[in-house]
Amino acid sequence: MKFDTPAGANPTDRMQVLGKPLDRYEARLKTTGTATYAYEYKDVAPNAAYGYILGAAIAKGRITAIDTTLTEAAPGVIGVVTYRNAGKPGVGKFYVQKMLAAPEVDHYHQPVAVVVAETFEQARAASALIRVDYARTDGRYDLAAQKGSAPVPPQGEFGGPNEKRVGDFEPAFAAAAVKVDETYTVPDQAHAMMEPHATIAKWDGERVTCWTSIQQMNWGTRDLGLILGIPKANVRLISPFIGGGFGGKGTVQMDLALAAISARVVGRPVKIALQRPIMFNTTIHRPKTIQRVMLGAGRDGRLTAIGHESWSGNLPGGRTEPTVASTRTFYAGPNRLTRMRLATLDLAEGNAMRAPGEAPGLMALEIAMDELAEKLGMDPVQLRVVNDTQVDPEDPSKPFSTRPFIQCLREGAEQFGWDRRNAKPGQVREGRWLIGMGMAGAIRAGKIAKSGARARLDGKGIITIEADMTDIGTGSYTVVQQTAAEMMGVAPDSIVVKLGDSTFPETPGSGGQQGAPSVTAGVYAACVKLREAVAQRLGFNSAEVDFSDGRVKSGNRSVPLADAAKGGDLLVEDVMEFDKLKDQFQQQTFGAHFAEVAVDAYTGVVRVRRALAVCAAGRILNAKTARSQVIGGITMGIGAALMEEMAIDQRFGFFVNHDLAGYEVPVHADVPHLDAFFIDEVDPTISPVKAKGVGELGLTGVAPAIANAIYNATGVRVREYPITLDKHLEGLPAIA
Ligand code: MOS
Repeated sequence: MKFDTPAGANPTDRMQVLGKPLDRYEARLKTTGTATYAYEYKDVAPNAAYGYILGAAIAKGRITAIDTTLTEAAPGVIGVVTYRNAGKPGVGKFYVQKMLAAPEVDHYHQPVAVVVAETFEQARAASALIRVDYARTDGRYDLAAQKGSAPVPPQGEFGGPNEKRVGDFEPAFAAAAVKVDETYTVPDQAHAMMEPHATIAKWDGERVTCWTSIQQMNWGTRDLGLILGIPKANVRLISPFIGGGFGGKGTVQMDLALAAISARVVGRPVKIALQRPIMFNTTIHRPKTIQRVMLGAGRDGRLTAIGHESWSGNLPGGRTEPTVASTRTFYAGPNRLTRMRLATLDLAEGNAMRAPGEAPGLMALEIAMDELAEKLGMDPVQLRVVNDTQVDPEDPSKPFSTRPFIQCLREGAEQFGWDRRNAKPGQVREGRWLIGMGMAGAIRAGKIAKSGARARLDGKGIITIEADMTDIGTGSYTVVQQTAAEMMGVAPDSIVVKLGDSTFPETPGSGGQQGAPSVTAGVYAACVKLREAVAQRLGFNSAEVDFSDGRVKSGNRSVPLADAAKGGDLLVEDVMEFDKLKDQFQQQTFGAHFAEVAVDAYTGVVRVRRALAVCAAGRILNAKTARSQVIGGITMGIGAALMEEMAIDQRFGFFVNHDLAGYEVPVHADVPHLDAFFIDEVDPTISPVKAKGVGELGLTGVAPAIANAIYNATGVRVREYPITLDKHLEGLPAIA
């Protein structure tokens, strides 16, 4: 089915099942510990051996010798895989990092060897017996030091052009009545998802099957095929349950590549989990950015010049962190310059993490807006209202498909009690606590992509939906179930959902908050076909048929849906494809974030007291899972604002705090009462289901709202994330 004109009325508008706060489809499995995660399969490869990865002890240089004699003689060892016997692993398309040091070492903890043994303990113990000699060379680990020589790279596949101009920025900025010109930094951050990367790989001739933990099956089969040098069709990935990914499991990581390579070398299935301490330096991360934001406005607050220049670093061939993406679409203003520069760094690869681009970009832009509001003597909410636009500010021929941003701002301000905020910082105290309120706007692309699904109706009236979509803890199973139930007019428990198998029809998977809108559009297409097949089988004229209450009705005739499959199951498959609407409309999601903090005037400790998000993302498919996505996003925003940072050892070039003891993320005690509300809207330009993603929207804008609240509390402006107490302690107002 092709989606090329805005959707009219259709069965999803009934909202009898869709939109409801249904419990998770797989809730019972997860809460009873019976959902099978990648490392837990017992029966699929009973003779699987255990692989243990030894990471490089240097960050840059080469291996001069590897002696594995003692390792090979160690108890239980089956084989040792290094670049000498691994074949020549290729490189996937989305991640550019090499899976094995060969013999050049590109970054610290790049895999040097996989020890394969009968047990995990034997593999780990034997890995300590490998002797590796290295020739170490100097590397580049400091973005600030490389900043001066970082070029504007040619346009990449993601994030748009690296430099873009509209109007004439420099003179407009020079002439602006009120200006902000500040530089902000967001550090290297780790996904730190709950479930470590893990894979069981099993070969059958030229074909490999991997039980793994991956967000995007289509990229995964493509990239593993490239790495192994086999056709994509010879790769099968199975990943029904995933303990979080946040972009870190977008496609093939070392566990998957090296389990498949090791299994090929030793001739047995191999299972590998990345030990937590190796994940931070081995896999991808969100790369540090240095961002200069220049805002010029008239006294009325209208932006006349918007400039955003950003620096990030990566391994050769890696991409820029697309921080300026949201600056290009968020606010009106005639003169604009956005530019991204990319340094070469010898750290692990920087790549997609938790709203890549928008999340770190707004961490800079939305503080700058707060600074501008203060200079103007204008309320920060009002500053955003006066700079709203209903057309793409860089391409006025493109209207926003929906943009209820002002509504988000106003409803948020109202619900949060924003009128109680004292605009003058450092004024509100409760005992030793300095109290502040802050806000920020949020914008995140409302993406959608080609998505397939298969539907089977059986004689009991059960409809089974299959798609290679994944559920990374987001609720994919549940929204698929709801969409199919709504389309077919049956109760949700008549729908069986099967996801996470690359042999199912292709979807874009979980990433870029496009999973739910895309997969439900594919399910819509398959269900339209199933309705036609049912009507035909039952002898109805399909144009006049109503599907409801588990029955098929037309005129006076009403037949149980199950009757259509009496003579054999009905099986259909379709793909929803998207045409030009993406080019005709600027499709985005919007939000307004509000936060209240308390800062201990003696110690500088920051506590977030409450936070509120008001979001607009088209039709909300499930009130509970969508709210959970946003609550989770706010929690990540608390981490980004206050805690998350990978510290680099500049001598030896590695992330020092490479475990969950040293890399801090919010725990329950850090997370106060959070509220999330959605604007009641649909977006008919997105798909017939009219829904956009919410997950990454929930995160973008949170950290700057907290940063602005801290400033409001203390009067000390910190422009370097995370805002740890050492950065404002000296400047805190003295209290008696
Ligand atoms: Mo996301 S960082 O697009 O999984």
